[in-house]
Amino acid sequence: MPLRCVVLISGTGTLLQALMDAVARGDLRASIVAVGADRKAEGLARAEAAGIPVFVHRLVAGADRTQWDQELTDKVAAYSADLVISAGFMKLVGSAFLGRFAGRLINTHPALLPSFPGPHAVRDALAAGVKVTGCTVFAVDEGVDTGPIIAQEAVRVLPGDDEESLHERIKQTERRLLVEVVKGWEETHG
Ligand code: GAR
Repeated sequence: MPLRCVVLISGTGTLLQALMDAVARGDLRASIVAVGADRKAEGLARAEAAGIPVFVHRLVAGADRTQWDQELTDKVAAYSADLVISAGFMKLVGSAFLGRFAGRLINTHPALLPSFPGPHAVRDALAAGVKVTGCTVFAVDEGVDTGPIIAQEAVRVLPGDDEESLHERIKQTERRLLVEVVKGWEETHG
């Protein structure tokens, strides 16, 4: 049975695309059974074009966060996910979600954790003047980018890099790393 993956996104979804491409090539046996977002993310169109069910679950300003988290949990659970992949999902999930998907929830981050956690990892790395940064795939816990590290890869910061150029170079590595982690997951959990 292929690993049933639900992917959560907020942005352009190029990491999602890397997973979809790996499935299409047969490099992954996994099935992406749904893609969810907290907004009308650009990347949802990638899933729709491939016939993958999508959903949007917005966190409206001032809304009850616990309720939002429970509803997100229910939406993802409805797809019987074996693995939930946060691939550029820019919301923190709460205790209901963490409890339901404990041990099968991974995230990817554009820095070498524990350095530069949070939503501006690439900007923060540039501001710190580091010469090497990278990306990290990790198991999600209740902290902000604090969970156990599954895989990491370094990326050099080049002279003249700005946030966009550096982030794009990191994402080239990150796409491959995420696919490798899911492949490893299939081998150990499939
Ligand atoms: C990726 O670099 C991912 O690590 C980052 O968002 C980007 C999504 O790219 N996630 C975070 O910063 C979460 N803290 P994409 O929309 O092109 O797939």
